[in-house]
Parts: sequence; C-alpha cells; structure tokens
Amino acid sequence: MAVSSWACPQKIQPFERTGRVSMDKPTVRSSAPTDGAEPEFDPRDLRNALGCFATGVTIITAAGPGDVQVGLTANSFSSVSLNPALVSWSLASHAPSMPIFQDCSHYAIHVLSRQQQELAIRFSQPRDDKFDGLKIQPGLGNAPIIPDALATFQCHNAYRHAGGDHVIFLGAVEKYDHTEGEPLVFHQGQFTDLAPTK
Ligand SMILES: Cc1cc2nc3c(=O)[nH]c(=O)nc-3n(C[C@H](O)[C@H](O)[C@H](O)COP(=O)(O)O)c2cc1C
Repeated sequence: MAVSSWACPQKIQPFERTGRVSMDKPTVRSSAPTDGAEPEFDPRDLRNALGCFATGVTIITAAGPGDVQVGLTANSFSSVSLNPALVSWSLASHAPSMPIFQDCSHYAIHVLSRQQQELAIRFSQPRDDKFDGLKIQPGLGNAPIIPDALATFQCHNAYRHAGGDHVIFLGAVEKYDHTEGEPLVFHQGQFTDLAPTK
C-alpha cells in the first residue's frame, strides 16, 4: 500500500534557531544589547505591531473520542505549499482543545465570510455550546464541517512543531471547496471587511 510522506502524524519537533534578519523600520523597538538573550518586549506594543498585519479569519474544527467536537477561531492560517498542498496554523500550547488537535487524524479549516462574524466571536470564547444550532456535516476524520464558509480545507494532521508558546500545525490538504463572497478580515484587534474597490 502506498503511504504518502505525511501519512503518519509526527511528534512535535523543535525548530532550529536561525540568525536574525535586520530590517530598517521607521520605529525600532529593541531591548538591545541582547547578548544573545531573549529580548523583553512590551506585550501590548508587540501585539499592536503584529496587528498591523491584516488577516482573514478561520474556524478550525476537529473531532475527538466519544463524539467530542472542538473548534476555535484562528487567524494564524497560512498557505505553505501548492505541491504538495500544505497549509499551516498555530494553536496556543495551553488551549483546552490541544489534546484533540494533537491526536486527531484530520481537521477542517473554514475561511469565514463577512456574514460569519458572530460565529468568529462564538468560536473565540471558551464555551461548551460552540456548535449549537449549526447544520454540521461530518468531514474527514469526523471533523465538523460548518456550512457557508468561503473556503473549507480538510487536512490530514501531518506535522506539528513547537513554536514558543504555540504549536505550529502543518496540514496536508486532502479535500477542499470554495465559493465566492466577501471575506471577514481581522486588523488591529478588530473584525472588519475589505474596503470596496474603486
Ligand atoms: C481573530 C482571532 C484570531 C485568533 N487566532 C488564534 C490562533 O491562531 N491560534 C490560537 O491558538 N488562538 C487564536 N485565537 C484565540 C482562540 O480563538 C480562543 O483562545 C479560543 O477560546 C480557543 O478555543 P478553546 O478555548 O475552545 O480552546 C484567536 C482569536 C481571535 C478573536
């Protein structure tokens, strides 16, 4: 039987530290000299800087033993590779859903439309009724498929790497679909949508 190179979930691998890349920026935040030590940034200011990067918004779902369903709002989603089709996202190490995402065979990534902001808020809160009232279909590995997303990627749980206080997941896309519509956008800590093009 043919087995693809990402067929077996891997143990968490630490990333190798690489040299820093220097960039000219109008405002430089630094706790230099660092002497190779970890710089101590102001967390609020670092969040504000990271929030300059506008993203789409996803909900990522999976199923665990005993029909347990988990899902969270995530904007760390990114495309990685076309051939093979790989995507990435990251999950806080302390997230209650971590054990299920670690062990599941598949998860489903839903790219949300601007009409799905209420869902994005619901799935960003720790609550037991996240899936209540949703017309869920079972996907690969029983991952709950939420209807009306702009795009859905059903992924094999291929690789996981330690990444600071998060775990980086690399998913091998096994099935996807998409439709037209306007995306939900997250920027500077707020949900928004795209400004109309002129
Ligand atoms: C726009 C937005 C993006 C988020 N992105 C992520 C993310 O990429 N990874 C993550 O671990 N948490 C992210 N969160 C926070 C989780 O959605 C939140 O902690 C959620 O409660 C986790 O679900 P759980 O408590 O059921 O594990 C995000 C929250 C929002 C509002």
